Amino acid sequence: MRLFWAFLTAALSWAPPAWGQDYTFEELWNLETTFWDNFLYPANVQQMLAINSTLFTPDVQGRVDITRVFNGSELNTEYLFGLFSDPSHVSLVGIPIAYSITQFSANGNIASATTVVTFNATSFGNFLLPVTIDTWIMWDDEGRIEQYDATFRWFGFLLDTLVQALATAINGTTSEATASLTQLLATTICATHDQYCTGDNQQYADTTTCLDFLTTDIPLGKDYELGRNTLLCREVHEHMVQYDPGLHCPHIGPTGGDYCVDDQTYAEKVLQQYFRKSWIAEGSSAEDIWFVG
Ligand SMILES: *[C@@H]1O[C@H](CO)[C@@H](O)[C@H](O)[C@H]1NC(C)=O
Ligand SMILES: *[C@@H]1O[C@H](CO)[C@@H](O)[C@H](O)[C@H]1NC(C)=O
Ligand SMILES: *[C@@H]1O[C@H](CO)[C@@H](O)[C@H](O)[C@H]1NC(C)=O
Ligand SMILES: *[C@@H]1O[C@H](CO)[C@@H](O)[C@H](O)[C@H]1NC(C)=O
Repeated sequence: MRLFWAFLTAALSWAPPAWGQDYTFEELWNLETTFWDNFLYPANVQQMLAINSTLFTPDVQGRVDITRVFNGSELNTEYLFGLFSDPSHVSLVGIPIAYSITQFSANGNIASATTVVTFNATSFGNFLLPVTIDTWIMWDDEGRIEQYDATFRWFGFLLDTLVQALATAINGTTSEATASLTQLLATTICATHDQYCTGDNQQYADTTTCLDFLTTDIPLGKDYELGRNTLLCREVHEHMVQYDPGLHCPHIGPTGGDYCVDDQTYAEKVLQQYFRKSWIAEGSSAEDIWFVG
């Protein structure tokens, strides 16, 4: 019987020798806080200016539950640092100004953490918005992030709270606030389009076509739809257009350019095998359906 269990256990779990750097707990804590220190404004501006942040490996893989996957250091630098670095530009959550790590466990080269980040919602009367971000981060031998998987906890509640704050500000109903938010975002995206998406990068015939498309042809989007064919998705990508119009203009256009598209079912998203390395500390398991092997 004991032999049977030993055999079964061996068959079910394939445990290769530990791979990756074996950091101490303290080293992992320092790597984690280094990331969050640089995530804050204005440190994130410096990261953005580096174009390829040295906090990432060149072929870093990233996934954010409410959006989608991001490949490579340049794109991840833009999305993690550039997106939240301009207090004067219209944005949903504004700029990150403080953080507190509230849950943390780490070993090998992987850490799992919960971080409550305080955002200054500069487009919503500078109100301070706590945002809970759960992360799994994996570092390479040189202390660079080679994989991360981020989840925005309670994001639906957050969106509703933003709309409610707007309703209070305009002394209106929730649907009036939603309409107002839709107009604000669409106007911002179309202005960016008109400024940066010219020549071969042009997506809309004119501003009216742009506004019509964004306010009536596509939905504002639900909390999990920032990587789907929605206005909220184009709001995310609008911030990136200035850095690389050739790459990002299609994302705010009618096609959504591979980033704002409904290309995945719920099950496909849940079962997606994306990461090159398994998130199971010390090696993969045959039962890990996310790991390609
Ligand atoms: C950033 O990395 C990309 C991809 O490796 C490379 O093509 C690009 O030239 C780099 N840009 C800078 C400014 O280092
Ligand atoms: C990102 O990487 C994944 C896995 O390597 C690949 O399937 C996907 O096509 C890439 N996406 C983009 C936009 O390059
Ligand atoms: C929030 O941002 C605004 C605009 O940049 C600034 O005036 C205000 O002081 C900031 N609030 C905090 C708490 O940092
Ligand atoms: C808010 O709207 C209500 C209903 O339209 C109105 O009665 C009230 O006077 C408004 N309050 C302010 C402060 O504008």
